[in-house]
Amino acid sequence: MFFFNIPIDGQGNFKMVAKTIFGLEELCATELRKLGAENVATHKRAVSFEGNLGVMYKANLLVRTCLRILVQYAEFDVRNENDLYDKFHNIPWEHIIDETDTLAIDTVLSTELFNHSQFISQKAKDGIVDRFRNQTGIRPSVDLDNPTIRIHIHVNADNKCTVALDSSGDSLHKRGYREKTNLAPINEVLAAGLIQLTEWDRQSTFIDPMCGSATILIEAAMLAANIPSGYHRESYGFQNWRKLLAYEENMWQTIFDAAVERIDTKDLALYGIELSPNVARKGKENVKRSKTEDMIKIRNADFLESDVPPIAGPKPVLLMNPPYGERMVKDDVWELYHEVGDTFKKKYKGFDCWIISSNLEALKNVGLHPTRKIQVYNGQLECRFMKFSIYDGSKKRPKTEGENATDSEVV
Ligand SMILES: C[S@@+](CC[C@H](N)C(=O)[O-])C[C@H]1O[C@@H](n2cnc3c(N)ncnc32)[C@H](O)[C@@H]1O
Repeated sequence: MFFFNIPIDGQGNFKMVAKTIFGLEELCATELRKLGAENVATHKRAVSFEGNLGVMYKANLLVRTCLRILVQYAEFDVRNENDLYDKFHNIPWEHIIDETDTLAIDTVLSTELFNHSQFISQKAKDGIVDRFRNQTGIRPSVDLDNPTIRIHIHVNADNKCTVALDSSGDSLHKRGYREKTNLAPINEVLAAGLIQLTEWDRQSTFIDPMCGSATILIEAAMLAANIPSGYHRESYGFQNWRKLLAYEENMWQTIFDAAVERIDTKDLALYGIELSPNVARKGKENVKRSKTEDMIKIRNADFLESDVPPIAGPKPVLLMNPPYGERMVKDDVWELYHEVGDTFKKKYKGFDCWIISSNLEALKNVGLHPTRKIQVYNGQLECRFMKFSIYDGSKKRPKTEGENATDSEVV
């Protein structure tokens, strides 16, 4: 069994992994480097890096394109379920958990050795609990919804099992500004990533013309005004840690206060349009809850019939997450994308218009030549994020930076 080196007080560097969404790995790596992470390397849906406790706190608070920050703890080869139980039993859990802790274990399997992640979580939990009871006489309990310690297991294709401690707790896409709804809003981490992919200059007009619950607008406002992505979150997993990397409340507070000092609420207008009155109302409520209402204006209207909001700045951006058509008749969704393309051409000259959709056929119906195509995932759905640069008819279309990258970006 190999144990990663973790300084008990977190003063020295240790190894971490940021989990992210497919397509956002490079952005996540850049964000991590900016806050002082070292030895940063991208992998599929993950970024590995090194840093101390302060870097771990900053990564949780500030990295917009990251879902979780895991602390690498142990690694071993695994042969079967009983071997997995024994190895978990051999880990000195009493250095990590105490008798008041509650546990949850998430397992991701990339191996053919096991096929039920829940069963593996159960086996690992038995190993942990049995050891802890033998050592202390107390049996820690499991709390799948609200544990104080969340453990992450990954078994790779070579049957190497990595055990990590989840410093985030709830996924970092849960920013704390959105109420539970029955809508299917875009994931906040994906929204933050898409905005950064557009290379929006954070000053020019920004429009989400099918804004739903306003996630994209809120993430854009928070980015432009330097509001930390975790500003509204109430808690993080690491705040429960009392042994290894024990929670340093003063350090956290200093990092939080310094980030809040850098907030610069700009004189900025971001515009949303939403067809459904009910959804538009929910969007406005979310904006209010995120305290970005000075920067965001939402109108209940049909984008196809609406006037263009006031244009400011040299590089206006439109970012649209339209219906993908799962619940629409094929002709309706094709017609919608066709009309969207026509509206871009007629009304949005000078804009970089971006669309994310999993409906590749409907995207062809936009009828414009995309200048960039990027593969991303929205949940389980493989999507394309496409850029349409709308030039004034009188101007020759200049080649934009990144245009040459089009083919290599699309798989
Ligand atoms: C996929 S949802 C957008 C979700 C949004 N990104 C969020 O985070 O909640 C698409 C939205 O487009 C709206 N919509 C559809 N057609 C529209 C139109 N012609 N004009 C404005 N909004 C429209 C729908 O009502 C729906 O709320």
